[in-house]
Amino acid sequence: MRVLPLVPVLAVALSACAGVPLPRESLTDPGALLFNGYTKPKVDCFRCHNGNGQGASRGPNLAPRVPKKSDERLAKVIREGEGFMPKYKDDLTDEEVTQVIAWMRASFPQSK
Ligand code: HEC
Repeated sequence: MRVLPLVPVLAVALSACAGVPLPRESLTDPGALLFNGYTKPKVDCFRCHNGNGQGASRGPNLAPRVPKKSDERLAKVIREGEGFMPKYKDDLTDEEVTQVIAWMRASFPQSK
């Protein structure tokens, strides 16, 4: 059995698919900390949308989407999920949903 030499290859292949969180020390915004998985273990938006929200293999880039949506619409997707997006209504308080939306708004302003 020659399995060991494959491990680094697998690790590289997996990390290419998954989103990567932004470094903890670069973040102070509560919404950014939630999005990047540092506040609650079950809240891990970065895995699909990448730490900066610009998308990874499992989730779309949020930059073109967020400016086109109302706060109500964003809150609904976060609470109830959609398609392959899981629901977070059991894991996020209303205040936390608001914090995540505020961070996405600040990260992805309306293009002029
Ligand atoms: C398992 C992967 C996954 C995770 C984790 C995930 N998302 Fe998503 N998200 C998706 C996918 C896939 C879509 C596209 C859904 C569609 O359009 O059908 C999406 C769409 C969105 C949208 C766009 C909605 C729209 O109306 O276009 C927002 C905003 C969003 N996600 C925010 C978040 C936030 C915030 C979190 C963490 C609380 C999160 N996502 C966690 C996969 C994920």
